[in-house]
Amino acid sequence: MSDKKFYITTPIYYPSDKLHIGHAYCTVATDAMARYKRLQGYDVMFLTGTDEHGMKIEDKAKEAGVTPKQFVDNIVEGPRGVKDLWKLMNISYDRFIRTTDGYHVSAIQRIFKKMHDNGDIYKGVYKGKYCKPCESFWTESQLVDGKCPDCGREVIDAEEEAYFFRLSKYADRVRRLLEDTDFLEPRSRVNEMVNNFIKPGLEDLCVSRTSFTWGIPVDFDPGHVVYVWVDALSNYITALGFMNDEYHDYEKYWPADVHFVGKEIVRFHSIIWPAMLMSLGEPLPKKVYGHGWLNFGGEKMSKSRGNVVDPYILAERFGVDALRFFMLRTFPFGSDGNFTNELLIQTINTDLANDLGNLVSRTTAMVNKYFGEHLPAGCRDWAEPSPADGELKELASGLRERYEAQMEKFQFQNALEEIFKVIQRANKYIDENAPWALAKDMETNGPRLAHVLYNLLETTRICGVLLTPFMPDSMGKLFAQIGACECCRTWDSAAAWGALSDTAAPAKGENLFPRIDMEKALAELEQAKAEAVKAALPTLEIEPLAEEKVDFDTFCKSDFRAVKVKDCQPVKKSDKLLRFTLDDGTGADRQILSGIAKYYRPEELIGKTLVAIVNLPPRRMMGLESNGMLISAVHKEKGEEALHLIIVDDKIPAGAKLC
Ligand code: ME8
Ligand code: MG
Repeated sequence: MSDKKFYITTPIYYPSDKLHIGHAYCTVATDAMARYKRLQGYDVMFLTGTDEHGMKIEDKAKEAGVTPKQFVDNIVEGPRGVKDLWKLMNISYDRFIRTTDGYHVSAIQRIFKKMHDNGDIYKGVYKGKYCKPCESFWTESQLVDGKCPDCGREVIDAEEEAYFFRLSKYADRVRRLLEDTDFLEPRSRVNEMVNNFIKPGLEDLCVSRTSFTWGIPVDFDPGHVVYVWVDALSNYITALGFMNDEYHDYEKYWPADVHFVGKEIVRFHSIIWPAMLMSLGEPLPKKVYGHGWLNFGGEKMSKSRGNVVDPYILAERFGVDALRFFMLRTFPFGSDGNFTNELLIQTINTDLANDLGNLVSRTTAMVNKYFGEHLPAGCRDWAEPSPADGELKELASGLRERYEAQMEKFQFQNALEEIFKVIQRANKYIDENAPWALAKDMETNGPRLAHVLYNLLETTRICGVLLTPFMPDSMGKLFAQIGACECCRTWDSAAAWGALSDTAAPAKGENLFPRIDMEKALAELEQAKAEAVKAALPTLEIEPLAEEKVDFDTFCKSDFRAVKVKDCQPVKKSDKLLRFTLDDGTGADRQILSGIAKYYRPEELIGKTLVAIVNLPPRRMMGLESNGMLISAVHKEKGEEALHLIIVDDKIPAGAKLC
């Protein structure tokens, strides 16, 4: 085991709805970072999980008619739930914490007790505002236009006996932490925290609730549950075994190297969390990094805004690696980015299909075409290199260092940019050397051609190693295609030009990143989205029962009869109407027009006994007279109107009165 340790976390997600691509953004970034550190030889602990308590989840469960635990179990462990999504996205987490796990629950009770015993948690009365969807308390002065400053939604009044955490006591220490150290990044977030929260004066924080029960009980004061953020933030240490016996690596991994969190929860991580740890007398995490949001149409992607992008649809259509790559290549991690399908497809086509995909397929194809199974031994060290060779080698050999500098700052976009500069240079090197021209005279140019192709394979290999944290599966395939053995897929080998054997045997395989037809793909996505929306609709929708009463006499005036269909024809020039000729028991034919052509073919109704109301005043439609109305059952199925005529037993004679 390595003595270089790296502990990294994602936020723990609320399993109140299915997760979307915005949630995957942070998790993919954390995964790339974790894989990068493992590549470097670190012993990595990558923690993720779910934050399962709180009023919002209690409400949602009630709505769904299940217990809160059943509700969260389904979203976390169920089909296409949180764990399924991380499997799909190839997330290599080492540990998954659920805040309903027993060890976490008892550890939270001990943590709360410890802060109570040391005087940092005391009892008082809470008066204030509460934002349900955000699970956040606000003071009047923090509201923006009377609404939640985070999400802009309505807040509710709250007043109750509650425990408070002496946040005010830690205000100075927290301020120094933020201002004088690199604890919080990007730097712009520091000003935001200090100006918006610390300078106006940090008030003590309400850390218990009595108005709902779905939370961790304060064990020494029944009726109180622990505020969900105290419960949630502590996950980063309980998951290592802090104050519990489930795990035993707190000493080993704490303090965390970095918490990746979205910008709207920086406040909790950079003010409340360090203050809690100060109170507990535990070391602080080394860094909190507040990343930006993936927006969609200019707004944060979120379930409540109804603009979520389904990662399953994108992964199925474009591949998981392309999707992972896109998110980190296109948007600077610290800022917001606007997600569009066009941008996704464009990025795949330009970087992956064109630049990287072409480099691999052209190079391997040329090796096989001009030399057979592999290049001639010795071509790596061919004695007459040109200046362009030197430039390519230098660029590729120095890539790891430039990449590392960016990765250490979590600048994934820049790290990838460094790699693609090299890939673009390599493609240019192909054109400069025109291997197809060299191949015309193998006797003279054979050694030169082999050397050029070796340089290309080697450059590709180095790029492949450094791309592995972003696209692990595809790079495995890439290594197989260029014939790179295990020992030239390592971190060390990425800074060692020439690690690839010059007789490595490339084998052209499947096209790693097929080019995408933009128009076609956009249309397919639209359709897939429409289908997903439809599939999510309730299977059956029944109209609510009428509230208004009709008196009995009025009801009895309606004359319902069994009627037998003698003939049924479409009505000319109408795609809605069917014309029925009915036996109503009187001996005379009755004509009724009914707008049900969408649901029935005329011939299938002939001979059937139906129900009609026969004492409606006559109506004219399309120049024909209708005397009455056929009775049918209507409801919605998957959002679409469904209709079934009431077809009754043949034994009921035409004309029988229904009452
Ligand atoms: O906040 N773009 O959970 P959560 C980028 N349980 N990131 C996004 C995003 C988007 N469109 N939508 C959500 C919570 N996120 C708490 C965390 S940690 C101790 C407790 C990110 O499910 C969001 O910024 O609402 C946050 O970092 C994470 O998803 C979890 O959000
Ligand atoms: Mg949130």
